[in-house]
Amino acid sequence: MIKTVLKIDGMMCSMCESHMNDVIRNNFKIKSVSSSAKGGCCEIVSEERLDEGKLYEAVANTGYKLLGITAEEYEKKKRGFLWFARKQQSTRARVDALGLRWEREMLMLELMKSRRSTKKYKSEMPRLSDIDKIIEAGLYAPSGRNRQGAIIVAVTDKTVRDRLSAANAAVLGANTDPFYGAPCVLVVLADKSVNTSIYDGSLVMENLMLASHALGLGSCWIHRAKEVFEQPEWQEWLKSIGVEGEYEGVGNCIVGYPVEADFPAPLPRKEGRVFKI
Ligand SMILES: Cc1cc2nc3c(=O)[nH]c(=O)nc-3n(C[C@H](O)[C@H](O)[C@H](O)COP(=O)(O)O)c2cc1C
Repeated sequence: MIKTVLKIDGMMCSMCESHMNDVIRNNFKIKSVSSSAKGGCCEIVSEERLDEGKLYEAVANTGYKLLGITAEEYEKKKRGFLWFARKQQSTRARVDALGLRWEREMLMLELMKSRRSTKKYKSEMPRLSDIDKIIEAGLYAPSGRNRQGAIIVAVTDKTVRDRLSAANAAVLGANTDPFYGAPCVLVVLADKSVNTSIYDGSLVMENLMLASHALGLGSCWIHRAKEVFEQPEWQEWLKSIGVEGEYEGVGNCIVGYPVEADFPAPLPRKEGRVFKI
């Protein structure tokens, strides 16, 4: 038996891990495969030595980057608790060895670069504990003079979600679902008495989208929250749920499980948007 370890750059979450496992299973004759986004590696056990060129090609096609390959003879050992404990330790040691700074950079930069707007959702509600984590990330966005001038209204109630969708579609003059079937809508609103609150709210939106991505959930900014929440009916509704004061809609962050498991590759960036002096 041969154990091959691929050092991979770009896997972010459990979905990336299972995508990588599928790619290996579909392209190579193997006994087992297991990937770790945290450890940045993929371990494969096979009877024959794997073709390195084909490995590079298969990983490149996923959009991740293969940084290195090691292969060694492998003998299956009896696994007990001690084996498990040692494996945990060695994974941690490997991550530490890469350096915490590297790990943080990789996680943040890759997270930002691989986030994409999801426009097709399953109807299944994400775990409420995950939604809470996303909301918490939103609350940690920076704000002008730390006035925290934006609020989040989390809509998971289907009746309200559908009414909000219809109101949003009406602004567009359409009768489709502008929320693409997403079951959860996090509406970000800006306190009109705070002069930076629209900017504050935009940063909240980005934190919500990045946190969703970090948890393997899809998200997208859906506009027209301003127009919807200008309407007396929705102003009244805000009051009815306990929102006091004058608020302006910034955006709706829709959240849910994406229908497609794979995140599309990032779109090319426009030229000429950076000026270095
Ligand atoms: C301010 C803003 C408003 C947006 N409004 C909508 C919208 O109403 N509907 C929609 O489908 N996508 C909307 N999007 C998502 C964009 O279509 C998406 O960000 C853009 O196409 C780039 O794709 P990416 O997010 O996958 O990189 C909006 C994004 C931003 C930042």
